[in-house]
This record gives sequence, C-alpha cells and structure tokens, in this order.
Amino acid sequence: MHSVPLVNSGGGQPGPGNAGWNGARPAANPVLLVRELVKEYKVGDGTVTALRRVNLAVFAGQVIAVRGRSGAGKTTLLNLIAGLDDPTHGLVVLFGHDLAKLSERQRTEMRRTELGFVFQAAHLVPALTARENVEVPMRLAKVARTERERRSHEALSLVGLAEREQHRAPELSGGEQQRVAIARALVHAPRLVLADEPTGNLDSHTGHAILDLMRNVAHQAGIAFIITTHDPAASAMADAVYDINDGVLTPGQR
Ligand SMILES: Nc1ncnc2c1ncn2[C@@H]1O[C@H](COP(=O)(O)OP(=O)(O)O)[C@@H](O)[C@H]1O
Ligand SMILES: [Mg+2]
Repeated sequence: MHSVPLVNSGGGQPGPGNAGWNGARPAANPVLLVRELVKEYKVGDGTVTALRRVNLAVFAGQVIAVRGRSGAGKTTLLNLIAGLDDPTHGLVVLFGHDLAKLSERQRTEMRRTELGFVFQAAHLVPALTARENVEVPMRLAKVARTERERRSHEALSLVGLAEREQHRAPELSGGEQQRVAIARALVHAPRLVLADEPTGNLDSHTGHAILDLMRNVAHQAGIAFIITTHDPAASAMADAVYDINDGVLTPGQR
C-alpha cells in the first residue's frame, strides 16, 4: 500500500497527484476515459442493451453527477468502469490503463489501491466503532496498527466525524453512517470514488449534506468522484452533470 496523505499539506497547494486543480481544468491526463461503451446482457433468447455508445472523461478532483431513473444503466456503467464486468464494445481507460489489457489480478489490485466505493446503504459492521469500520480495509491489507489509527482518524476528520470515532454504527444517524462509509472509501487515498446512489436511503436534506461533503473532499484532496443519483438537485454540487436514459449518456442541464 502506498501512504499518500489524504489531503495535500500546504494549504491546498496542488500536489503532483492533482496538478492544476483550483477550478481550472487540469492539463493532466484524465483519470478516466470511456469511449463508445456498449453493454448488452443476454437474457433468455433476447438481449438487453444497458449502455449505448457512452463517452465520458473525468479529471482529477472532478465531481461528476450521473442522473437517471431506475434501470437507466447507472450501475452497469460503474461496474464497467471498475472492471467488474466487461463491455460488449468500447473502451475503459482507467489511470491510463486500458482495462481490457489488464489481467483479473491487475484489475483487482487497481480496485484495491486506486478506487473507492460508496453504495446506497452504508454497510457498516454494527458491532464495530466508526473508527474500526474505517480500519476494516486496512486490516485486510495488513497495514500496521499505528498507521491504521492515523489514517482512520484522518479520514473521519475529513468527513467531519472525528468526535464520533468511538460510536458504534447503530449509535449514528443515517447520514453519519454514510459519512463513515465515505471515510472507509477514502482511507487508502483512492484517485477515483464510484458512488452508486449514495443518497438513495437519506432524506433530501441529509442527502444534500452528503453530496456537499463529497464535493469538498474531491476539491480538497484531489480525488475524482462519479456519483449516480435520481435526485435532480444533485446537479447543483457537481462540476459536470450527465443524464442517462435507456443507456444513452448525454451532458445534462443544471
Ligand atoms: N446482470 C444483468 N443481466 C441482465 N440484465 C441486466 C443485468 N444488469 C442490469 N441489467 C439490465 O440493464 C439495464 C440497466 O440496469 P442498471 O445498470 O442496473 O440500471 P440502474 O443502475 O440505472 O438502475 C436494466 O434494464 C437492467 O434490467
Ligand atoms: Mg443501480
């Protein structure tokens, strides 16, 4: 595991990993490039087309909102970006690597070190404290205890939960639980976080606070986010908005 600090020290100076942030589009290569992506599922004798020639580029520290109804293709898109499934046609280039050319092992390693995942439900272990929940991925990766403690504290501070570290999951509100899940997704300093309807279980006020939090983290830490949602208001906090309809991705209006 690398031990890149979650937040660049030096008052938000752009670091090597997020050169050019500060509102300007970074000149660096995109974190993610999706080209003419098509996904068809065989179902019985028929075919379901979940993605139709999707194109997308995401740069360091950018927050992308993808709005779409249930069944529009949001989860399929995130699964292909994460290399969890293979496209029928088209290309996913993640951190400069064409996923089709990586082995399963290399993809797994890339997911473990460079990607973060947030889902609709927080999926915390109820018997563990907030801090211990955030440490789970680092325990699996055999990170030393002092390093785990330092990083989990840093990640929980980043999501504004430093004072709740010792609370167990059931002692936290829904929004707080989701913030712990975000801290857990950030603790290994990923370059891209895939958040699949992260506000789907929250009331709109709490949901908006979570979206704001993700935007702040993205801009502070230079981490890119792709956030799917069916909340039309999500567009307000994103750097770029797309709509997905029946597998067709188009630039969205705010
Ligand atoms: N594993 C699968 N096998 C067959 N069809 C699928 C599978 N996964 C998704 N689909 C279909 O692809 C379409 C897009 O699904 P999905 O990406 O889950 O949409 P969303 O996340 O926007 O709700 C839907 O019509 C869905 O039924
Ligand atoms: Mg979905």
